[in-house]
Amino acid sequence: MTASPVFGKVYMVSQLTDAFARKFYYLRLSITDVCNFRCTYCLPDGYKPAGATNKSFLSLDEIRRVTRAFAALGTEKVRLTGGEPSLRRDFTDIIAAVRENAAIRQIAVTTNGYRLARDVKAWRDAGLTAVNVSVDSLDARQFHAITGQDKFRQVMAGIDAAFAAGFERVKVNTVLMRDVNHHQLDTFLAWIKPRRIQLRFIELMETGEGGSLFREHHISGATIRDELLKRGWIHQLRNRADGPAQVFCHPDYEGEIGLIMPYDKDFCASCNRLRVSSSGKLHLCLFGDGGVSLRELLADDSQQGALIARIEEALTYKKQTHFLHDGNTGITQNLSYIGG
Ligand code: 5AD
Ligand code: SF4
Repeated sequence: MTASPVFGKVYMVSQLTDAFARKFYYLRLSITDVCNFRCTYCLPDGYKPAGATNKSFLSLDEIRRVTRAFAALGTEKVRLTGGEPSLRRDFTDIIAAVRENAAIRQIAVTTNGYRLARDVKAWRDAGLTAVNVSVDSLDARQFHAITGQDKFRQVMAGIDAAFAAGFERVKVNTVLMRDVNHHQLDTFLAWIKPRRIQLRFIELMETGEGGSLFREHHISGATIRDELLKRGWIHQLRNRADGPAQVFCHPDYEGEIGLIMPYDKDFCASCNRLRVSSSGKLHLCLFGDGGVSLRELLADDSQQGALIARIEEALTYKKQTHFLHDGNTGITQNLSYIGG
């Protein structure tokens, strides 16, 4: 244990551990639920504000306080998510605010990529260490059909800009959908052959609003795994930083393939993350919990101790697994407010 000074007071850095001996050193922080894309599996009708009861998104100071508390609890990695996080005008300042915590060594963003070409250099200068970009198709027209935005070339230019800015690897998220992209493995493989991209196929997850899409397009990642093994790809041993992804590599390829299979029976055993929504609620799982409000403890610096205590307390209630297998999507209507 090491001591961590938090505004005069000294809190011991403890490691968040739950009742199933899982350690949580990774925070996914959603900073807005607004998105300018309309992905079929997420916001098919576009973003709609949730009405008058919906409080504003966490301010820069609130983000500073919440990440400071998580840093004191052993968090080493923060991912900024949305909605689309780069829609916030203070996004670069947010990266810098998270960076103020020396214990947080990795700061990542999950983005739809539309601001990458313009801003990725500034983000890196502010302290960003990793980029995940969503790309569900390598065909510009199909990309447009899935996302509702004709921005394929802009997103590709953004990925190039990320490499040019000095990121050694870029992760790409591809939601696997039957009859949409599941038969395009060879196109994806050709794309990553000369590029240091980890392309991660994510199994389509059922959300409250996405039931019919799920029934039509869900396909197990095992079909991709079988194809990869047939083509000589090698399943790598799990790395601490992989989380629930299974990673495959091939000697002839610069890129790697990741498989994220939330319906796999052991998926939750390697869970290493907690989530905070853009309205300041702590979510122990992507699915099925209402969240514990942290917001009233974020208003000023004096409540840092109570904030840390509330996070520790909440974790004692974390369940062993989600209930997606039973078709129970919890309160999760879509993933835009909690960032996947
Ligand atoms: N199923 C799987 N992944 C989803 N995402 C959003 N909605 C879903 C869903 N229903 C993920 C995608 C996207 C990221 C922002 O969130 O991976 O790239
Ligand atoms: Fe926006 Fe991401 Fe949802 Fe697509 S998946 S609509 S880019 S929040």
